[in-house]
Amino acid sequence: MWGGRYAEGPSAIMREINASIGFDRKMWRQDIRGSLAHARMLAHVGVIGAEDLAAIERGMEQIAGEIEAGKFPFDETLEDIHLNIEARLTERVGEAGKRLHTGRSRNDQVATDFRLWVRDAADGLIAQIEDCMRAFLGVADDHTGTLMPGFTHMQPAQPTTLGHHMLAYLEMLSRDLGRMRDARARMNECPLGAAALCGTGFPIDRHATAAALGFDGPTRNSLDSVASRDFALEFLAACAICATHLSRFAEEMVLWTSPAYGFVRLGDGLTTGSSIMPQKRNPDAAELVRGKTGRINGALIGLLTVMKGLALTYAKDMQEDKEGVFDAAASLSLCLAATAAMLRDMQPDIARMAAAAGAGFSTATDLADWLVRELHLPFRDAHHVTGKLVAKAESMKVDLSGLTITEMQAVEPRITTAVFGVLTPAASVASRNSYGGTAPANVAAMVKLWREKLA
Ligand code: ARG
Repeated sequence: MWGGRYAEGPSAIMREINASIGFDRKMWRQDIRGSLAHARMLAHVGVIGAEDLAAIERGMEQIAGEIEAGKFPFDETLEDIHLNIEARLTERVGEAGKRLHTGRSRNDQVATDFRLWVRDAADGLIAQIEDCMRAFLGVADDHTGTLMPGFTHMQPAQPTTLGHHMLAYLEMLSRDLGRMRDARARMNECPLGAAALCGTGFPIDRHATAAALGFDGPTRNSLDSVASRDFALEFLAACAICATHLSRFAEEMVLWTSPAYGFVRLGDGLTTGSSIMPQKRNPDAAELVRGKTGRINGALIGLLTVMKGLALTYAKDMQEDKEGVFDAAASLSLCLAATAAMLRDMQPDIARMAAAAGAGFSTATDLADWLVRELHLPFRDAHHVTGKLVAKAESMKVDLSGLTITEMQAVEPRITTAVFGVLTPAASVASRNSYGGTAPANVAAMVKLWREKLA
């Protein structure tokens, strides 16, 4: 492609380090789409003839067929997908193929193809995030009143419900969805026509190519168009945050399915056995969701690091932008699918969760609140009295509700038997009816709200 200036070809190591065809062939559809939009625009403004356009369209159709059939002769010496397709086009249709690159450079071409690819990936992930949200909603709907312990510092804190816990993830995913949609909306400007970096003197119509490729319009600065990859960074950031949320749920699946917790059971289809320990049901799917988050987060840091310190405009460093994005998109897609599958499969052990919800003096806050409400103790004093009662129950190896009224009154004489009404996990969750709180009536209302939003 630059034989005019060069007498010698590249060395073997130059070819090897330079080639991206091994991975950027993934963008062949986007490359053909972009080239067709460019060629049609060139014909429309009269830069190429109608016969040239017809030949290019015919050639591209044949090339698409070849790639689909696995018969395309990918060639490493032709560096990347752009040169591979262009060279093949010229082989097939001659002269017209050589006219395609008028008013265009690989710099704006790759920026366009990659945006189209990332946009498609974002669309796919948006649908998958929504599906995963529905899966969380399904469990929440079935378990608005299913008691479970709420934790802070991994210590039993206050009773909550499985439904409320599921809706916490639903909220996180709804923000992930918003981030992905925002990224998609912001990236939807077309760099094609920025050419190498400064634009072109050919009478191209950038508004036409942008519209043909489904963009909202052309980018406004040619240097920015070929130099920027923040659309990919933003996509990766949205992926990384979403994966990080899924990873937290995955960790809970790992804990909850362990016999020590026994909160939920995953079926044969989403666990693996052990070749040596016959009793095992390993939550590999959850572990892999947790593990794959590492490479997704790594892709974000990788591309941030590639881009930092790059003087404008294009530099070949930027060829390193693709593999991490391809991998992160595929990995997050798998993580979302596996998470949705686990949610639809998991069987909660309601009795075990309820028992755990009452363990660890989890209604101590309810006791303190009762002392404030009924005896008008200042909260700090109520906290102190409750602390003494917890210590007493602990030394006697009983729950708070296992203390007798006489034992309680030895600590605070004004306590009455009415206090036992607030010491159960069920009473505790029912009482927490502040907006966004854990009360089953509240959770049911939120489920209804999300049903409408996701309809
Ligand atoms: N394969 C290159 C990339 O992915 C295409 C752009 C090449 N441009 C250039 N001036 N060498 O970035």
